[in-house]
Amino acid sequence: MNPKSKLPHLGTTIFTLMSELAAEHGAINLSQGFPDFDCSPDLVHLVSLAMKQGLNHYSPMSGIAELREEISRKQYEIHQANYHPSTEVTVTAGGSEALFSAIAAVVHPGDEVIVFEPAYDLYRPAIELFGGVVRAVRLMAPDFRIDWNEVRSLISHKTRLIVLNNPNNPATVVLDEDDFKELIQIVRNSEIMILSDEVYEHIVFDGRQHFSVSRFPELKERSFLVASFGKLYHITGWKVGYCLAPEILTKEFRKVHQFNVFCVNTPVQYGLAEFLKRKEEYLALPSLFQQKRDFFMDGLAQSGFKAIKPQGSYFLLADYSEISGLNEFDFSKWLTIKHKVAVIPVSAFYANPPEQKLVRFCFAKKEETLEKALEILVKLK
Ligand SMILES: Cc1ncc(COP(=O)(O)O)c(C=O)c1O
Repeated sequence: MNPKSKLPHLGTTIFTLMSELAAEHGAINLSQGFPDFDCSPDLVHLVSLAMKQGLNHYSPMSGIAELREEISRKQYEIHQANYHPSTEVTVTAGGSEALFSAIAAVVHPGDEVIVFEPAYDLYRPAIELFGGVVRAVRLMAPDFRIDWNEVRSLISHKTRLIVLNNPNNPATVVLDEDDFKELIQIVRNSEIMILSDEVYEHIVFDGRQHFSVSRFPELKERSFLVASFGKLYHITGWKVGYCLAPEILTKEFRKVHQFNVFCVNTPVQYGLAEFLKRKEEYLALPSLFQQKRDFFMDGLAQSGFKAIKPQGSYFLLADYSEISGLNEFDFSKWLTIKHKVAVIPVSAFYANPPEQKLVRFCFAKKEETLEKALEILVKLK
């Protein structure tokens, strides 16, 4: 058979490859972005209670009302942004489904989509699958700041969407208020929409504020905002997230969502609706992850790696040019196979990678895991 691939240049994602390599070689897996510690037992209890109560069938397509109401309340409390639970909040199969459904809903063949690279690997294939054309803005280490004049120069009547990821994976930077002022000027009086991937919204460090697009009325009216309970509650395997968008955009979003997954795991939604009432759980995230970041950074300071201090997310980028002259992909494989610490090459997040020697570590791990990895890494001087 010749299936006439719609994504002929695409293979398996780098995360799958590196996690498989880590398992095969018994390496400490600091590659894929998931915690190796467990979620709250109370959350597990709430979900199993829902299962025992027989809440095991299809939920409403947009999610159970209780959860949509809690999500709406949270967004208002944190960002003073109003989303109507019945028409503007949709529970999704993780952040991934929300991103994919939003792209599928609005990108037409020939539309241009602005993406900042390094970029999370889902955006480009999803855009191209629906005939969109990626116009990449390349951000460079170590500060990865956006040159908004470059963004301006890429805008045309074909620009349909701008994809933001804030805090950014893998660049680990957080946008500031000035970035949003620039963005507002660029999209004002246009039909350009925004897809704002905010799955790491609570993982920001050093007292930084996370500015959500939902904070800015001129952006909110044109944005799909994507969030993930996987990142919020250390439950990446449960695959539940949500999309917030004004009614007119949500209508289009749900046209795809209803035939993509129809609805999301019902008992998990009941558990989350109850658990979301406990604000202290997510308000504790910055300090929980900052501790891990600092522990890992302090350890790396004794090694040949030069770390870039993360402003947010689960990740830390480090330059290894003092240790090796290998390219990023070969270095990552060498580190995984020979030294048993798995990482991700940053080149995997660019269509045209710049000449650099950077790898991404995930520090969302138990201290003992980080300690074991550091014992190995400090010897690679
Ligand atoms: C930037 C970014 N967006 C979206 C996702 C996907 O979120 P989920 O696991 O909820 O599908 C991830 C997961 O790693 C991510 O890093």
